[in-house]
Amino acid sequence: MSDSKYLFQRNQTWWVKIAVPASLRSVLGHDLRRSLKTRSLEVAKEARWPVVAEFRDMIDEARKQQERACRTPSGRDAVSGVGFEITRREDLSEGTYLLEIHHPALARAAAPGQFVVVISHAHGERIPLTIADFDRDAGTITLVIQAVGKTTREMQQRCQAGTKLHSVVGPMGIPSPVAGVAKAVCVGGGLGVAPIYPQLRAFKQNGAYVIGVVGFKTRELIFWEDKLAEYCDELIVCTDDGSAGIPGLVTKGIEAALEQHPDVDRLIAIGPPIMMKACAETTRPHRVATTVSLNPVMVDGTGMCGGCRVRVGDKVKFACVDGPEFDGHEVDFDDLMARLRRFGAQEKLALDAWLNSDPEAPSRAD
Ligand code: FAD
Ligand code: FES
Ligand code: MG
Repeated sequence: MSDSKYLFQRNQTWWVKIAVPASLRSVLGHDLRRSLKTRSLEVAKEARWPVVAEFRDMIDEARKQQERACRTPSGRDAVSGVGFEITRREDLSEGTYLLEIHHPALARAAAPGQFVVVISHAHGERIPLTIADFDRDAGTITLVIQAVGKTTREMQQRCQAGTKLHSVVGPMGIPSPVAGVAKAVCVGGGLGVAPIYPQLRAFKQNGAYVIGVVGFKTRELIFWEDKLAEYCDELIVCTDDGSAGIPGLVTKGIEAALEQHPDVDRLIAIGPPIMMKACAETTRPHRVATTVSLNPVMVDGTGMCGGCRVRVGDKVKFACVDGPEFDGHEVDFDDLMARLRRFGAQEKLALDAWLNSDPEAPSRAD
């Protein structure tokens, strides 16, 4: 019990303790504390100040270290020490990039529908990313990332072939059930095209007739068309502006597929929540079993924090351990979309702080 700032008593000995800001916990540990080795409160009160001053210096130094890590031009020193090597980087468009990572154990264990939690450098945040491909022979996994905020933009700048990701944990989530399906439609919208690939390949390898439906804003953003076509019996491309394939949203492609194939027995859709909601509404009247892959905010990825709570039917589920795939006809998409927006102010602050602190970051106007 403490009766004085920075002091607390345990086992009849006085200790000094100073709380560490959350942002520095990864550098300093949880809180700074040290025994003053005295039972006398009066002695402890006098003895605390040099320790508090020393702790303050440690916190200042940790802050500087953290700032230096953020400012490192290529980020190489922050990502080259420990971690998992990036063996290939490809820019699929201005805002979308692919990273291939050497991680043999993960490549061996990965299954369609699963994801990883990545920390890009020692002071980075945890972000979930879907395994867009895996190659067991080469021991690599592939991630396709859209630069939307602080972390994904920082990674876009730092992560080059030859550098390392600090931590890659997985595979997480329940693998997609791909066996026993005779005719499958696999729908990917925008970035969702990448994670649909392992599903589509697995359906094909399990003997299904596979129809791919992929949607992009415009022709220039199309990627992996040939890669997808290899495992598709039919591939329908849709573009919002009509510059390639069917003009319009993926729902148009789904309608075309269902018209031709009323015997489809499974549809899986991956993309922005609004797109997955529209896909589920398109298949509902046709009574086609529809799976969607949900992307709520995840923190620990182990079912402990509750961050990824989603509503499915009358149940509350945690997408990281119960999903991320769920019955699209049961998902409460409005709840999902509202929850995805709830840290908007903090995300903006983090992005602005990073843009202002990093001399190599593009300007805010970009
Ligand atoms: P921020 O500015 O922090 O956030 C931008 C938006 O991203 C937020 O408004 C929120 O909607 C979302 N977001 C932020 N933090 C998280 C978080 N910890 N978890 C989930 N969403 C968050 N993105 C890809 O580009 N490629 C993928 O393959 C991919 N797979 C995903 C798989 C799963 C299972 C989930 C849950 C998400 C996936 N995402 C994927 C989304 C990705 O995790 C977020 O875009 C990323 O965390 C944004 O981080 P940021 O700091 O750059 O942006
Ligand atoms: Fe914490 Fe799912 S991410 S419970
Ligand atoms: Mg973030």
